[in-house]
Amino acid sequence: MSLHDLLKDKIPHEKLSLLPRGFEIIGDIAIITIPPALDDEKYLIADALTNQRKDIKTVLRKLHKIEGAARAGEFELLLGNSTTTIHRENNCAFFVDITKTYFSGKLYYERNRIAQKVNDGEAVLVLFAGVGPFLISIKKKKNVKITGLDNNPAACAFLKKNIELNDIEAHVILADANSMEHIFKEPFDRIVMPTPYGQDHFLNLASSILKPEGIIHFYTFKKDFEIAHFKKLLLESGWHIDFYRGCGEIAPRAKRYVFDLRKN
Ligand SMILES: C[S@@+](CC[C@H](N)C(=O)[O-])C[C@H]1O[C@@H](n2cnc3c(N)ncnc32)[C@H](O)[C@@H]1O
Repeated sequence: MSLHDLLKDKIPHEKLSLLPRGFEIIGDIAIITIPPALDDEKYLIADALTNQRKDIKTVLRKLHKIEGAARAGEFELLLGNSTTTIHRENNCAFFVDITKTYFSGKLYYERNRIAQKVNDGEAVLVLFAGVGPFLISIKKKKNVKITGLDNNPAACAFLKKNIELNDIEAHVILADANSMEHIFKEPFDRIVMPTPYGQDHFLNLASSILKPEGIIHFYTFKKDFEIAHFKKLLLESGWHIDFYRGCGEIAPRAKRYVFDLRKN
């Protein structure tokens, strides 16, 4: 039974129609957007969520769009008492406090896709590594030398815990990605960059620490009509596009896109 079905006898239809049908689950935490018109019903909704999914221990209401350098969200705790959880996917476990670091379960297909593409023996860099979803997914599957970089101390602390939790070896660097050219002396075979919104300039910087035959998996946010122009720009800048796809809608006709790039 859906959340809407569970609530249809408790909330008038016109109000209930304002409640989004979807919600995100990270470990045992549910994250839901509740519009202001449903303020009085917020606890009722949280309660219904835990009735629908017995594995949910905490319900958080998303208050603002995820913003700021750390890309962490602001939440109102509606039910439960912990914002830390362990999220499991693709045989990996991610310990995370979603009020301190960005994390989304939505990119699990991409993490698996990239892990399949990586070859044993590569030197791999994950920029904007967060708590480690890309890094751990890759290192769990492939025998590589892997480094993760993030400028959020909380993300790096969780990343180190997750490296232990998943019983892998990796190098963690707490630093601003704007300094990457100065941090890394040896170039990489592959760079994965789940780039923060509107910060495409990092692609140029990453290019300078990539081996001549290296590959970059570049994530960016674009409106659908911008894609043709963006592809043209990439080609003009000397990139060869091996593959690209939309991987998650962020607004009507706007998506997160991934481009698998190599230098011509
Ligand atoms: C969109 S999140 C991606 C996190 C993670 N890779 C994932 O997929 O869950 C972006 C991450 O980039 C980090 N970040 C933002 N600006 C940065 C910068 N200038 N240098 C290094 N890390 C940065 C944030 O702390 C955050 O963890």
